[in-house]
Amino acid sequence: MARELFNSPEKRWIREHFWLPALLDFKTRSQFDLPFKYLTFAGPEGRDVEFFCKTHSVFALQNISVWEKNDENAKALISKFGLELRVKQGEAFDLSSTDREASFFPYSAINLDFTNGFFNLKKNRISPHKLELIQNIVEHQQHHASNFLLLLAFNTSPDVDTATGKSFVHKMAFDVATRFGSTRALFNLTRNSNKTYDKVLSDLLPAAVITVGGEHTFDTRCLGKAVYRPYGVRKSAMLCLVFEFVYDNPPLSQSSFFRAQRMEDTTRKRQEESLALELIDVNQTRRIKRKGISISKHARARYRKLFPSTSSKSIL
Ligand SMILES: C[S@@+](CC[C@H](N)C(=O)[O-])C[C@H]1O[C@@H](n2cnc3c(N)ncnc32)[C@H](O)[C@@H]1O
Repeated sequence: MARELFNSPEKRWIREHFWLPALLDFKTRSQFDLPFKYLTFAGPEGRDVEFFCKTHSVFALQNISVWEKNDENAKALISKFGLELRVKQGEAFDLSSTDREASFFPYSAINLDFTNGFFNLKKNRISPHKLELIQNIVEHQQHHASNFLLLLAFNTSPDVDTATGKSFVHKMAFDVATRFGSTRALFNLTRNSNKTYDKVLSDLLPAAVITVGGEHTFDTRCLGKAVYRPYGVRKSAMLCLVFEFVYDNPPLSQSSFFRAQRMEDTTRKRQEESLALELIDVNQTRRIKRKGISISKHARARYRKLFPSTSSKSIL
């Protein structure tokens, strides 16, 4: 199949082998939390909607909401799927703080499939917009004490983030190096990070997301990390992360101080685990498969452990 916008062979691999097993596994384990609802950035063609809803029946169309900032894309989606698909036009950051959108929460899975960088800030602010968007979303989910999966994808090409944004990255690298003794990201940043920016962010971003989860009393685990290059060149590298948020149901008699303290050890443990997770290189994995070399037993075993309810045949 030819390369199309948001539908390269690598992107299709992500949907089929990275997102789908996580969704199926989570759905199996949360079968009593019905309906199984999905919030996504679907793009003009809604390929993920098509794949998860029509091909694999993970979600029913009426249980899917789309946030789309581009007017033309929103119109294209409505004309393709009809009014059963709920499409809300607007910037996710703004939508995440409206009462109207809050009323549609909770969701079982939320797919923030961005096209740009995570740290493309023009001006300094307390937290990058995308992290604040994740905070808003986690807060909505917390109101409903609802477990969920977060699928996160963004551009990690070397020049995608601004200098202001990169100052956050440097601070995070320093923090991860001093707190966990993991100096890999800091080392890569001080060398030529043009070749390693995707790896750097794959080390740093999970720690930040896990902190947001912990602060909202969710035990938050990074389940997987993958990077793909839709044009086969390093200058367009998309990093994909999957997180599972499990609400920790803190005792109501405890003050917020004790709740925070309670989560501290869990958060730290999950951050350490995320640093140990391997980053799957999708282009390399596909190349190996095309050449007929089988995927290592170790990689298969790791996938089975992550997504136990998924048949191992569908993996890699
Ligand atoms: C990569 S595409 C989605 C592809 C789709 N998830 C799939 O699997 O085929 C991203 C879409 O989200 C929209 N988008 C990106 N950032 C957004 C934001 N901050 N708020 C709302 N929509 C956004 C873009 O306009 C684009 O249509």
